[in-house]
Amino acid sequence: MKKILPVAALCSIFFIGCGGGAEKPAAKAPAEGGAASELVSGYDLANGKEVYDANCASCHDEGVLKSPKTGEVSAWTARIDQGMDTLIQKSIDGYVAEGNMPAKGGNDALTDEEVANAVAYMVNESVAK
Ligand code: HEC
Repeated sequence: MKKILPVAALCSIFFIGCGGGAEKPAAKAPAEGGAASELVSGYDLANGKEVYDANCASCHDEGVLKSPKTGEVSAWTARIDQGMDTLIQKSIDGYVAEGNMPAKGGNDALTDEEVANAVAYMVNESVAK
C-alpha cells in the first residue's frame, strides 16, 4: 500500500496527467504483492532460487537456446497463462518446441518439488510488478 500514496498525491497535483481519475491507480493496484504472490504461494522461493542458480540459470539467465529469459515479462506472459501445474510438469519431463528444455534442466538428481520451487522462483521474477 505504501507505493500508492505518493501516486495518489501526484495525481491530485497533476490532475490531467492521470486521465482525470485520481482513484484509477488505487483501483488497479493489486493487494500486497499482486498476481505473482498468488501464483507462487505455497512454493519455497528461497529453495527455488538455490535450485535455479545451480541448474537453470545457465540457460535462463541469458535466454540461451531460445529459452525464455528469467525476468523478461514478455517472454513469460503466455507461458504463465498455461498455469503452474503445466509449467512444472513440462520442466520435470522436458519438452521441445522452439528450443529444447531438458528434463529437470538436465539434473536427474533434483526432486519434483525442487523443480517446482525453481519454476515458482522464475515465475515470480517474470511477472509484471
Ligand atoms: C540447457 C538449457 C536449459 C536449462 C539448463 C534449463 N532450461 Fe528451461 N527451457 C529451456 C528452453 C530452450 C526452453 C524453451 C523451450 C521452448 O519453448 O521451445 C525452456 C523453457 C522452460 C520453461 C517454460 C515452459 C513453458 O511451458 O513455456 C520453464 C518453466 C523452464 N524452462 C524451467 C526450467 C527450470 C526450472 C530449470 C532448472 C531446473 C530449467 N528450465 C533449466 C532450456 C533450459
